[in-house]
Amino acid sequence: MLAGKRILLVIAGGIAAYKVLELIRRLKERGAGVVPILTPAAEEFVTPLTVGALAGEPVHRDLFDLTRESDIGHIRLSRDADLLVVAPATADLIARMASGFANDLATTALLATDKPVLIAPAMNPRMWDHPATRRNMARLVEDGVMVVGPGVGEMAERGEAGTGRMAEPMEILAAIEAAFSGEPALIGGPKPLSGRRMIITSGPTHEPIDPVRYLANRSSGRQGHAIAAAAARAGAEVTLVSGPVTIPDPAGVSVVPVESAADMLAAVEAALPADIAVMAAAVADWRVASASEKKLKKQASGAPPMLELVENPDILASIGRHHTLRPRLVVGFAAETNDLIENARSKLERKGADLIVANDVSPETGVMGGGDNTVRLVSAAGVEDWPKLSKDEVANRLVARIAELLPAPDGEGA
Ligand code: C5P
Repeated sequence: MLAGKRILLVIAGGIAAYKVLELIRRLKERGAGVVPILTPAAEEFVTPLTVGALAGEPVHRDLFDLTRESDIGHIRLSRDADLLVVAPATADLIARMASGFANDLATTALLATDKPVLIAPAMNPRMWDHPATRRNMARLVEDGVMVVGPGVGEMAERGEAGTGRMAEPMEILAAIEAAFSGEPALIGGPKPLSGRRMIITSGPTHEPIDPVRYLANRSSGRQGHAIAAAAARAGAEVTLVSGPVTIPDPAGVSVVPVESAADMLAAVEAALPADIAVMAAAVADWRVASASEKKLKKQASGAPPMLELVENPDILASIGRHHTLRPRLVVGFAAETNDLIENARSKLERKGADLIVANDVSPETGVMGGGDNTVRLVSAAGVEDWPKLSKDEVANRLVARIAELLPAPDGEGA
């Protein structure tokens, strides 16, 4: 898929720059041409000699070397590329890209391009979480820039952990292949959900038993988070209300972390009004009636504690049957191990949803915690079967279907 493709690779100044050497090797192995641009700060981390030797191409470093050429070198660099990749994308470069700067070769090439751009952010977790970076990322996503990572983990600074680690070279490679697969049709094209507000729930809820124990459903949050990322790429203004998960926050999305179903309901209600609600969280059906404020101790008698459970609020049903602020399109999930379609149909009715994404989560399917999903879309109009897809592909297709199904807002259209 990558054979013969030309990739303009912008390397910015971050400790993760060394990992990009591995990316260059993998790209070359697959027959891609790699044209590197090094920022001055990047040269503090990797040498032009190493990068150039691995790429088998001269390394571009200086804007004015190129502009002295008769055919305006930076324009040619962008024009000749099939894809621009920025790795590592530092907080500084992201800020300059978001503001449209062209004050060095890297930013000039990025501004002069009409080709797809993929960035692999890498920075300290506090810089990644800073409102300025979140704002800049939201703007880049809105501009159609594709994003891979960052991941969670140990940082180069001793003792620092959190979101900000650059995606691994193989992940960046997979994102480059996805960019060439034509699958992210939304990237660079029209934004079908531009101006739409969307609330998405994801992950499990944790219902406390005492300060150290809780009840929960199994959920990685991967499907809900993928939908949030796809919706943001489609131009929606996304609020992702997420239970406790270990996966990174999607780019360009505003995340509200919650613990329990009660917190989740409150956060969803606070995010109203919205045009679309997608309730993908695996909400615990019950909570302990009165959680203990102290850790429960084992009894000498060996008698286990008796936990009285009460039913949790149904968040999907409260939104689907909301009297005043019901979103125009409400989507729920039905993860079932049996009677998939009957159960999905009854949920559609009972919870006031327009669409139910039904999936078989029997252990043998490997859906739980896995990367793939086989779903069936159930609506009043009937049942639509989708083939086995990755959770990212399910997310892209679902967002595209939502854009088709979304009724025009009052006062718009005919
Ligand atoms: O009834 P069941 O839990 O199978 O329904 C699944 C759908 O309902 C999912 O969309 C889930 O997010 C939503 N749900 C909810 N609040 C609950 C239970 C389920 O929003 N308390």
